[in-house]
Amino acid sequence: MSALQSVTLLPNPIWGVLKMIICVCNNISEREIQQAVALGVSTMEQLRDDLGVATCCGKCFACAKHVLNESVLADASAGRLLQPTISAS
Ligand code: FES
Repeated sequence: MSALQSVTLLPNPIWGVLKMIICVCNNISEREIQQAVALGVSTMEQLRDDLGVATCCGKCFACAKHVLNESVLADASAGRLLQPTISAS
């Protein structure tokens, strides 16, 4: 099974939109990975520590890594990885 075959789409009961589950064992969605990246996560190790992605069966690892890399690139393109400058005044 390829990494993308392990992705599960579930209806969101509140908004009625699809939620793409990346890690079925831990019920972690693509959106949650994107939000983690927006908060500073940039490695699979951090993603494992923060969300528990790929900590059970591990079948989601490649797909989670793909989503992580795409999210990091998107954040970099949006300029969110630039650190704020702290002035010493
Ligand atoms: S699907 Fe992520 S650990 Fe099993």
